[in-house]
Amino acid sequence: MRFRYVCSDCGKIYESDEIMYLCPACSKQNDGKTFSKGSLIVELSEEVLKKARSKEHVTPEDFYPYETRHSKEFPIGVTPLLEAKRLNSKSGLKNTLYKLDSQLISGSFKDRASYLVAEQAISHGERRIALASTGNAGAAMSAVGAALGLDIILFVPESAPINKLMQSVLYGAHVVPVKGSYDDAFSLSIEYTRRFGGINRNTAYNPMTIEGKKSISIELFEQLGRRAPDAIYVPVGDGCIIAGVAKGFIDLKRAGLIDKLPHIICSQSDQSDAISRAFESGDYLPVKATTRADSISVSLPANGRMAVRYIKESDGWCVRVSDDEIINAELELAREAGILSEPAAACAYAAYKKDAGNLKNKLGEDASVVVLLTGTGFKDMAVFEGKVALPKAIEATKEAVGKLSF
Ligand SMILES: Cc1ncc(COP(=O)(O)O)c(C=O)c1O
Repeated sequence: MRFRYVCSDCGKIYESDEIMYLCPACSKQNDGKTFSKGSLIVELSEEVLKKARSKEHVTPEDFYPYETRHSKEFPIGVTPLLEAKRLNSKSGLKNTLYKLDSQLISGSFKDRASYLVAEQAISHGERRIALASTGNAGAAMSAVGAALGLDIILFVPESAPINKLMQSVLYGAHVVPVKGSYDDAFSLSIEYTRRFGGINRNTAYNPMTIEGKKSISIELFEQLGRRAPDAIYVPVGDGCIIAGVAKGFIDLKRAGLIDKLPHIICSQSDQSDAISRAFESGDYLPVKATTRADSISVSLPANGRMAVRYIKESDGWCVRVSDDEIINAELELAREAGILSEPAAACAYAAYKKDAGNLKNKLGEDASVVVLLTGTGFKDMAVFEGKVALPKAIEATKEAVGKLSF
């Protein structure tokens, strides 16, 4: 057996490599009033870790719980790690690098989780995957489904951003808009798999999503010359991406390839900061999320408890930024680094900018830092309305050129 499951709350071990979602005991306590319990963690066997330790170069495949057979049909990474010297000269942190996960096939980090869930489905003889999403996860799963010939059933709140929905329709998924919230879509997707079978890919429900997401840390380890960075800024809503980032470094540490985890820094909008509050207060309570950064707008984070635990385990901290800071960060990334990112992704850069002084005090100006940019700005141009306008057309004459002031 390549792995077993461990409950992230009660610690109970499940010696099984069958499909499991939540810890049956802990999930019974969930009442929707506080962060839910019972997320399972995949624990790789010593044998898998030993094999990874002996390799000169590791790839995510060495750390996946499933043997992957379709990586050529839907390659994940290696995404670019940019230097962005113009940005670094402003922060004074010259060893900051920008990880461009917007370059994944569907334009967001979510390809990482979707790809592994597809491998999970195929290895269990399933061809049908259901999920709920407000955008990127749905688009990512639909893209993988198109490439591997799987049926994707996507439940979405009817108010979800149109570009992200259209992307899933174009990939050929069965898109089911729901007259309700993301939570309603979540419950309906679970009802669907209960009635009709197939795999459920919901984040903070299917533990393989975290296993797919951890691939980024394995990639970073090799890209940085077989070491972890000192700190990594991650945009956070539900807390699944940050948990995936942490899990990758935890597995590298268990394999004896790194000595300690990087400081994992939770970057949130101050209008959607449930995880930051829980980290500081120890109370796992919802907030009323209102941020314009739709992918990180979350009132009751689905993976909040695990996220808080991993931020603590990595000796990390939380940074909150305003929506204005997020949009300005998005503009700065575009104008001074050529990086077009969606608001959720720009939140990581906004947090890094705000925290740069603190980081220098803690780790020194030579610290090796990674800012994780999780999604492309092409999916949400409407965010710039009122901030940036297209210039008016000039007459098609030489005189008109002569009047230009730049
Ligand atoms: C582009 C992007 N960045 C960040 C996040 C936040 O991830 P999580 O909700 O797992 O914290 C998401 C989630 O949808 C996303 O799509």
